[in-house]
Amino acid sequence: MRFPPSPTSDTNIRMNVCMKWARIVLALSSTLLIFLAAANPQAAPSAVPPSANLALTPPMGWNSWNKFACNVSEDMIRSMADAVVKSGMKDAGYVYVNIDDCWQVSRDANGNIVADPQRFPHGMKAVGDYIHSLGLKFGVYSDAGSKTCAGRPGGLGHEYQDALQYAAWGVDYLKYDWCNASTQDARASYANMRAALDASGRPIVLSICEWGTAKPWLWGAEVGGNLWRTTGDIQDHWSGRKKWSDGSCCSNGVLDIVDQQVGLQSYAGPGHWNDPDMLEVGNGGMTDTEYRSHFSLWAILAAPLIAGNDLRDMRPEIHDILTNKEVIAVDQDAVGREGERVAKNGDLEVWSKQMKDGSRAVVLLNRGGSEQEVGVKWEDLGYPGNLSASVRDLWQHKDLGKFTGRFSASVASHGVVMVSVKP
Ligand code: GLA
Repeated sequence: MRFPPSPTSDTNIRMNVCMKWARIVLALSSTLLIFLAAANPQAAPSAVPPSANLALTPPMGWNSWNKFACNVSEDMIRSMADAVVKSGMKDAGYVYVNIDDCWQVSRDANGNIVADPQRFPHGMKAVGDYIHSLGLKFGVYSDAGSKTCAGRPGGLGHEYQDALQYAAWGVDYLKYDWCNASTQDARASYANMRAALDASGRPIVLSICEWGTAKPWLWGAEVGGNLWRTTGDIQDHWSGRKKWSDGSCCSNGVLDIVDQQVGLQSYAGPGHWNDPDMLEVGNGGMTDTEYRSHFSLWAILAAPLIAGNDLRDMRPEIHDILTNKEVIAVDQDAVGREGERVAKNGDLEVWSKQMKDGSRAVVLLNRGGSEQEVGVKWEDLGYPGNLSASVRDLWQHKDLGKFTGRFSASVASHGVVMVSVKP
């Protein structure tokens, strides 16, 4: 191998002088930078990523998948965003309007992701702008693997490019799925996407949709995930795991999902939440009693409340479930404690969540086929038995009076009674 000839000693001297000057200029400019940064802390380059303060309470919004699957379009999303406002969902706290799978069709010659031009004729930025004009936030979906679950282009190898594109569109929330990820390492893949989102400079919520396979509750917060799915997909039924049409296993009913949350409560907190999947409330497969239970349990679990029904066409009963402010307040409590199952006797269960003011939100759940009395002992809530506490029914919006040691109520089959217990 031939090396270039070494520089003459003259050239060496000139290079040394040049380097000396370069070092002086460098030193002066870093001193100037430090000085400017101290004078104006907002301008200081910061080690804190733009995402650090996102989702301090569980995210609330709407997502297209549970009702519309691949049938997404600009018109539908715009009208749904309108409905979030008109229905009072926005006032109740729902802010994200999230487009799930199938908005994307290909990549262009430069590798940029291309939105379906038929279904999104004005492009994704226009959709985002419209959502923002209503005071709402904009979410999209992609996948850490080569293809999404519906076979659209995934993010693998395009993470930084996609993150920049999302930021340019004004995206506030990314749900990142796990189909076609082959032998990828889950933790590394999601850490990479978070780094890419942070590098875009825009604060973007990262929703890890890995279905709990690699126990994301153990590493999700560390890699900057704001929420992580703990299970496979929910389906609009009360109980029973069902095989998918391709024979693979399995979707979950509400109770199957709830059972898979037991023991995960310590991993959740402000900015990083266990995600038992999106809501099915209003999609038609359950009774209103079951939907009320579904919503109450999600609130006790401090779960993200991402509605998945057609908000343009809601029965009043469904509207009243989704916008029950007392139940939403349980979910959104600032201390960010996830509730847990504190008692179980066959089909009868008690779930309790500690609130910021020291009170407890309590769900009395009857999984059985007939109405039954369900009781909660104060000891199960971490209170002394001789304590007198006020009990309020969060669905009837009614104070029930003071109780000492325990409270019980008659609970419908597949129903809940949800109360607050306040010493
Ligand atoms: C997976 C996810 C779902 C949904 C679909 C879209 O199944 O778990 O929530 O996003 O993909 O294809």
